[in-house]
Amino acid sequence: MNNRMTGKLITLEGIDGAGKSTQLNWIVTLLQRAGIQAVVTREPGGTPFGEQLRTLLLDQSSVMHAETEALLMFAARREHLDKVILPSLAQGQWVVSDRFSDASYAYQGGGRGLSQHKLNVLEEWTLGTLQPDLTLYFDVPVALAQQRVGQGRNIDRFEKEQSDFFQRVRTAYLERAQAFPQRIKRIDGSQSMVEVRIEVERVIRGLLQDG
Ligand code: TYD
Repeated sequence: MNNRMTGKLITLEGIDGAGKSTQLNWIVTLLQRAGIQAVVTREPGGTPFGEQLRTLLLDQSSVMHAETEALLMFAARREHLDKVILPSLAQGQWVVSDRFSDASYAYQGGGRGLSQHKLNVLEEWTLGTLQPDLTLYFDVPVALAQQRVGQGRNIDRFEKEQSDFFQRVRTAYLERAQAFPQRIKRIDGSQSMVEVRIEVERVIRGLLQDG
């Protein structure tokens, strides 16, 4: 977007249990150290209406067609853009979003099997030409991610999926990282927490240096 001041959009991606939420706090700290107070948000959600959609989408008892799921993800995203992302960027603020449109390609595309074409149409409708300035993709083997999720709290409608679903989600993420190497930086999330933090710091520094 050329009418932006200096705000940038950073998104975090990965399969459930990849550790991205832990690293989100680290990214916020790194930005703060550089004098940037980022707007932190998430998808699906980030707005009052989007959070209502999130509740429906993640509720284990919700039953819906895969295309309904995709449409609701993009509906929440449209609201998120309108109320949070675009106004913040227009004011020159940085935005860090825990998941964004790559998650739809990975989960609804890879996981549920929706065509790339349909997702492209929805993305173009919703985002126009907007893309994140940087996407950190935390890549972990499915078995490790599932072990981590299993140790956590109540699992949601996606987390209850079997490992073949997450294999497809991971493959789709890897394909996107290959297709958009400038924007999407793959981080090996199976390393120790300290090593992951160092890698995240290197990537964020790169973005800060780019200006
Ligand atoms: P997640 O971000 O993992 O939150 P938490 O850490 O609280 O579990 O949960 C969001 C879920 O929504 C996750 O399983 C992925 C899914 N999702 C999609 O399927 N498509 C999308 O476009 C987005 C944004 C998320």
